Amino acid sequence: MKEKIGELLEDVKSFHADNMDQLEAFRIKYLSKKGIIPALFADFRNVNSADRKEMGLLMNGLKNAVQEKIILLKNSFENTSEIKEKPDLTLPSSSPLGTRHPLSIVRNDIIDIFSRIGFNVSEGPEIEDDFHNFSALNFPPDHPARDMQDTFFIEKDPDIALRTHTSSVQVRVMQNSKPPIRTISPGRVFRNEAISARAHCIFHQVEGLYVDTDVSFADLKQTLFYFAKELFGENTKIRFRPSYFPFTEPSAEMDISCNICGGKGCNICKYTGWVEILGCGMVDPNVLESCGIDNNKYTGFAFGMGIERITMLKYQINDLRLFFENDMRFLEQFKSSN
Ligand code: DAH
Repeated sequence: MKEKIGELLEDVKSFHADNMDQLEAFRIKYLSKKGIIPALFADFRNVNSADRKEMGLLMNGLKNAVQEKIILLKNSFENTSEIKEKPDLTLPSSSPLGTRHPLSIVRNDIIDIFSRIGFNVSEGPEIEDDFHNFSALNFPPDHPARDMQDTFFIEKDPDIALRTHTSSVQVRVMQNSKPPIRTISPGRVFRNEAISARAHCIFHQVEGLYVDTDVSFADLKQTLFYFAKELFGENTKIRFRPSYFPFTEPSAEMDISCNICGGKGCNICKYTGWVEILGCGMVDPNVLESCGIDNNKYTGFAFGMGIERITMLKYQINDLRLFFENDMRFLEQFKSSN
C-alpha cells in the first residue's frame, strides 16, 4: 500500500491538464465518492496499528497534493481565459471627455464668423524682427508710439523681439500676396507687463486685414458690426471712438453695447453701457507702400482684438489669470462643438 501511494503521488505531481474538462476528470478520478482517495481511506481500516501513523500521513499527503494540483491548474486556466477575452470596444468610455479651452472656443468662433464672409486665416512667427513688428507698420525709430507696447527684445540682437501684436502678420501677408486680401491672423503675443487680473505677459490677439480697390471706412464698420452681432447676439450695438495707431489713419476704437446689462449700465461696463473690444482703422498708405502695395490703387482696413478680453466679456470672467492656471474646475465649465 505504501508503494501504491508513492506511485499515485508521482502521478499526481506529473499530471497536467490542457483544459477544465481534463481537470474535472482528474478530480473525479481521485476525489469523487468512488474515487481513489475515498477507496484508500476505506482500506485504512485494514492497516495494522503499528503502520497507521505513517500510512495516515502518506494518505493525507496524497489528498493534499491532489487538492493543490486542482487549485493550481484552475487558477492558471482562469488567468489565461481573462487574457483571451477580448475587450469590448463598443462600450462607452468611463473616463470623462476633455473640453476645449475657452480661448480656443472663442478663437474658433471668431475664425468661423470671418470665414463666412470670405476671410482666410494666416499665421506668422512669434519671434519677429523690428521691420515686421514696428518699422513696416509706420513706427519710426525712436517714435514714442513704440513705448505703447513694452517689448521683450532678444538681448544679443536688438533687431529681434517677441512680437507685441499680430499686426506683424498683416505685413507678411501684404508682402507675399496681391490684393484682394481678406485675412485674419490669430496668434500669441508677448509684452513685458506685470501679471494681474487684467494683464499678462503672454496673451492672444486676432488681427484682421482687408485690402482691395475702393475699400472704405463704411466697409470696416459693416464688417465689424456683422462680427459683433454674430459673436455677442443680434441686439448688439456698436460705436466708434477716434483713436491713434501708427499703422492706421484714421484710427478708431470700437465699443459694443454691454452684453451683460444690454446697455443699461452695470459694473462690467462701469455704468456707461459700452465696453471696448477692438482697435481698427484704414491702413495707413505708408504701410501699404512699405509692404509693396500700390497705395494709389488700393486702400484697406485693419483691426485687432485681444481674445482674452473678448472671452472675458462673453463668459463674464473677471480674472485673466484663470486662463493660464489650468484649474480643472474652471476649464470643465466650457463646452463647445467646434
Ligand atoms: N496692434 C494693435 C494692438 O496690439 C491692435 C490694432 C489696432 C490692430 C488697430 C489693428 C488696428 O490692425 O487697425 O494694440
